[in-house]
Amino acid sequence: MDVRATWATRIGFILAAVGSAVGLGNIWRFPFLTGESGGAAFLVVYLALVLLIGIPVLLVEFVIGRRSNRNPIGAFTELNHSQWKIAGAVGALAGFIILSYYSVVGGWVIQYLIAGLSGGYSAGGDAEVFFVETASGTGAIAFHALFMALVAGIVALGVRNGLERAATVMVPSVIILLVGLAIYGSTLSGATEAYQYYLYPDTSTLLADAVEVLPAAAGQAFFTLSLGMGVMVTYASYIGEDRNLLSDTGLIVGIDTAIAILAGLVVFPFLFTQGITPGDGGAGAIFISLAGAFAELPAGNLIGAVFFFMLLLAALSSAFSIFEVVVSFVVDRFDIERAPASIGLAVVIFVLGIPTALDLNYLDAYDLFANNILLILGGLLMSLFIGWVYASDAREEIQKGRSASWFGGFWLATVRYFVPPVLLITLALAVIEYYEFLQSTFF
Ligand code: TRP
Repeated sequence: MDVRATWATRIGFILAAVGSAVGLGNIWRFPFLTGESGGAAFLVVYLALVLLIGIPVLLVEFVIGRRSNRNPIGAFTELNHSQWKIAGAVGALAGFIILSYYSVVGGWVIQYLIAGLSGGYSAGGDAEVFFVETASGTGAIAFHALFMALVAGIVALGVRNGLERAATVMVPSVIILLVGLAIYGSTLSGATEAYQYYLYPDTSTLLADAVEVLPAAAGQAFFTLSLGMGVMVTYASYIGEDRNLLSDTGLIVGIDTAIAILAGLVVFPFLFTQGITPGDGGAGAIFISLAGAFAELPAGNLIGAVFFFMLLLAALSSAFSIFEVVVSFVVDRFDIERAPASIGLAVVIFVLGIPTALDLNYLDAYDLFANNILLILGGLLMSLFIGWVYASDAREEIQKGRSASWFGGFWLATVRYFVPPVLLITLALAVIEYYEFLQSTFF
């Protein structure tokens, strides 16, 4: 085994993991899906899945990474089970697709940042029209290119550590901004209706609704925690054995979940007050609702610019965690040097994303396939491996760093008997749903 550096401090690892987890998933994707899926029932199922599936699977990735000291591609070989490398390949494919449209949405953020600085989105007055103009067409393609160039450039220049450290500023700033906006939202006329929609599930239909939203909620739980692709395997490969994996997990999941919930508390009062039905906002929900609100607020353009700047940092730090896995896969599999592989892949990912910058139906098609199907499949494979093939070593590994000993057994039982059937059911529902989506959207 080669000697690898470990994170110098606990905070280094936490920052990298939080930087990857907190991103467009929390602030863009979560409110948008909640709105499309009918509100509170989605929130309930999502929170349950974060707790019951997200936490165990995050620990699965941490254990694979720390045990093998490798990225997901090398990990299974190092652990002498190289046929499970397929899980790494599924993850790399997912990353490839996700980054292609993640970058398009990152491009929207840059456009909104510029608009905030120049007073652009308040001038025209109509937040929905502004979103449609931003989200597709040549502008969207150009800013998608810029976002991808930033991701590749930051990795190539080796300044990503600096950007990870920026998380110390970015995460608290995002939280403060969201809390402030949520308080402002609570004073608006649509607030009561919004809370009713977002926070109070209809208990008489909750069970049926839960089945309905299961694939989307599971996909979101994986997406927001950066699971299913091996990102967390890579990060954990650098942590020391004296560290308590469980307490780190609690912190990462807690911060990530809090930011998503807050984003909902901002978006829904704004939407209801502007008279927009949540589902109708679609992928534009956060952008339309915020731009509309910033246009009203005193110093709204400035607040808007700061907000979108922080969101850009959050999106960039998530984007390279994805890029890294994809680049590592290609470097490893095809034996290419890192620099040319990065440039080549950035170009390929840019081209792959172009359809999603022209038509939001393509964005949905990419997104549903990569998240609801591929990420879940990746998580299922890794959980089966840990629960059924590598269980006793895994138990030993999680116990290091003084996790309470009952916890190892409890976790392992969850990973063996609970996580795989739930993910299997989710996967089956997701495949059916995807088929129906393709039929109704493209044929
Ligand atoms: N979690 C990030 C977000 O919420 C996105 C992300 C980063 C991701 N790395 C990932 C999603 C790996 C899936 C897999 O924005």
